[in-house]
Amino acid sequence: MMSSPITYALRALSTFFSPQKPLIFSGQGAVLKLADLMVISGQKRPLLVTDSFLLKNGMLDELIAFLEGAGCTVTVFDGIIPNPTFAVVEAGLAASRAGQCDAVFAVGGGSAIDAAKVIAAASTSKKSLAQLTGILKVKQPPLPFYVAPTTSGTGSEVTSAAVISDTETHKKTFFVDPKYIPIATAFDTGLLKSLPGPMTAATGMDALTHAIEAYTSRNRFADTDRDAAMAIKLIVKFLPVAYEDGADEHAREMVALGSFLAGYAFSKASLGYVHAISHQISAHYNTPHGLANAILLPRVLRFNKTASAQRYAKLERMLSGTEGDAFAPEQVDQFIARVDALAERVGIPVNLKDVQPADFDAIAKEALAEARSSYAVPRVMRKADVVAILKSVESGDRSVRFV
Ligand SMILES: [Fe+2]
Repeated sequence: MMSSPITYALRALSTFFSPQKPLIFSGQGAVLKLADLMVISGQKRPLLVTDSFLLKNGMLDELIAFLEGAGCTVTVFDGIIPNPTFAVVEAGLAASRAGQCDAVFAVGGGSAIDAAKVIAAASTSKKSLAQLTGILKVKQPPLPFYVAPTTSGTGSEVTSAAVISDTETHKKTFFVDPKYIPIATAFDTGLLKSLPGPMTAATGMDALTHAIEAYTSRNRFADTDRDAAMAIKLIVKFLPVAYEDGADEHAREMVALGSFLAGYAFSKASLGYVHAISHQISAHYNTPHGLANAILLPRVLRFNKTASAQRYAKLERMLSGTEGDAFAPEQVDQFIARVDALAERVGIPVNLKDVQPADFDAIAKEALAEARSSYAVPRVMRKADVVAILKSVESGDRSVRFV
């Protein structure tokens, strides 16, 4: 999950750096190819960072057997929890040091990947975790870092950022440095197909939001445009397939690649109002990030309809295979309708029952502050616009009218 300080930092970084993309392995057994790359690279004492669910369900048995068969001494740290805390990272760091680990190998969702990033950097640093927080604080090269995501949406496998929860301040703490980008990533369809349907839908719609917000950002670049457009193409085509048949490995692989490309695009081009509002909704009601985004996306698309008309129309021509056609106003509405239809097809509800009118004012203020400090949005919202969106989220009427 992204929030304002991190996106501000990423935007600043994107001005000076062109982040490297990790090497990619994908398909059935890709995690073993990733492990092989690590072994060939000379690392023999990996710290395997994961959660207890994956470990207990035997989903890592083949990987561990492969590594041990290749002469590795594997230290397993399975203490990852959602929204990992500093204590979780400290425990992982202690395991890394006790095992004299020479690499970090993360298998899991965004929480495992984020925690593993910081463990890899802290393992080679004399700095405390508190001293590593912030932007460009990693001086020593981290332990070589490898990633096999088990969800497709956060984009953490490609970004230069990690988010850790501080239980004392009750805030998210951000670690931002290009050194957090993994060496290589494996989209192993055997792991990805275990993701349940509702999570597949929500995380996939989160990835689609990353791509659309990057594509319509005023901070976009030629490479982010290319990656965001490809991500949108892949997710629109394959997310319904992965949702309806979780065992379809080809669809799983394509959604994972789409999420990866979307992650790269937004890490340079930044996000927009979907994220600015959804972060506040999640903070108030603990709503899952992907679900909040998925419900907000159609509303924000309508708000940006005029400002982003050319962009939406271009995406619609790409998705309908009519790239050569000239701009036509109906293409704009067709693109919005296409996103509505996708959300419906993957079971995204039209409203959120949690949101309370008494909170609208505070949520709107916080969302505007986040967007103002962090995002290069195509059209600036006023408080009344955010409130109109929140009302439509409460009522379930997607055709929100902006005054
Ligand atoms: Fe997101």
